[in-house]
Amino acid sequence: MASSGLLLALGLFVGVSVAARAAPLDEPLKPLPPIPALDSKRVQLGLRLFNDPRLSVNNTLSCASCHRLDKGGADDKQFSTGIDGKLLEVNTPTVLNASLNFHQFWDGRVETLEEQAHLVVISPTEMGSTWESVVKRIADDPGYAKDFKAAYPDGVTAPNIQGALADYERTLQTPNSRFDQYLLGNTDILTPREKFGYQRFKEYGCIACHQGVNIGGNMFQKFGVMGDYIADRGNPTRADEGRFNVTGDEADRQVFKVPSLRNVAMTAPYFHKGSAPTLENAVEVMFKYQLGREPQKNDTQLIVEFLKTLTGEWEGKPQ
Ligand code: HEC
Ligand code: HEC
Repeated sequence: MASSGLLLALGLFVGVSVAARAAPLDEPLKPLPPIPALDSKRVQLGLRLFNDPRLSVNNTLSCASCHRLDKGGADDKQFSTGIDGKLLEVNTPTVLNASLNFHQFWDGRVETLEEQAHLVVISPTEMGSTWESVVKRIADDPGYAKDFKAAYPDGVTAPNIQGALADYERTLQTPNSRFDQYLLGNTDILTPREKFGYQRFKEYGCIACHQGVNIGGNMFQKFGVMGDYIADRGNPTRADEGRFNVTGDEADRQVFKVPSLRNVAMTAPYFHKGSAPTLENAVEVMFKYQLGREPQKNDTQLIVEFLKTLTGEWEGKPQ
């Protein structure tokens, strides 16, 4: 009997200390991992390159022209303007937390940030340049040449430029969202409505596709599981074929990478064609075409309130 009293006392003690430590919750969504410790010389080079218009053929566009860190890592336009002054074919996704996506691009045509950087520089519509020209411009700049030599034994090369950009992008994580603080055990930080919104997100099955540390970014899915969204939206183009353009497989028509929902409140408009102007609209489309369900009264609004808790911090400031 004495021992059960002891166990009880022990149980109480453990219970109290766990509460005081605010134990992480066991939830299907996970907080962001720590930002990886990378060579700061490489990261700094990546930061400079990311903001350097010399990566584009006519010195007009840098990565930051379309991926603005003050606009959630994208821009607020349906389509960004490319090098030739024409609008691009798909909406610009955010670079924030992109390193946590299992593939890059809406159709997932590459896996690594290095390959992504390679393609965007030579893309005739985006930066329109060649690696020969970019390497020459960077190597001809004495400041860059010196700093590359310090960061990479072989100095300025195309793979090193791509590597520096990718390492910089790996630091572009947005920790400390209110939802991550909640997951880490600070359960009072969300309002009851936001908690209801998260419940609904799980109950309706949004979480079947938007899941893991990036709340998305870890699978491909058809856009229009329960109805033909693209036909209903109108003006279909080649870009609407999604992953089919990469694999040629019929089953991949209109299949896209499920996007991350982190910082989603900051990155309107939505979808690969920027066809949903507001978060409310995007959630309504998801209900109808991905779930085939009619949300109960207020549920769209509750989910939107939950989605707004996914806004994290960049350089210590809210996004
Ligand atoms: C003219 C606008 C523009 C410029 C300049 C630009 N991007 Fe992008 N970026 C886009 C668009 C649009 C996409 C989506 C293309 C697609 O999915 O087919 C994209 C996709 C990406 C992605 C994939 C994100 C994801 O989750 O799929 C990354 C990473 C990225 N860009 C980084 C960069 C870097 C690094 C540079 C500079 C070397 C750069 N971008 C320059 C418009 C731009
Ligand atoms: C069957 C998988 C699936 C389900 C279920 C699903 N989504 Fe999506 N979601 C996607 C895909 C795929 C896209 C990208 C569509 C595209 O190509 O533009 C997307 C896009 C979004 C976007 C736009 C993100 C952006 O950056 O453009 C939001 C917001 C969103 N989903 C929220 C939700 C919510 C809320 C639910 C539940 C009501 C939900 N999703 C259910 C697969 C799904």
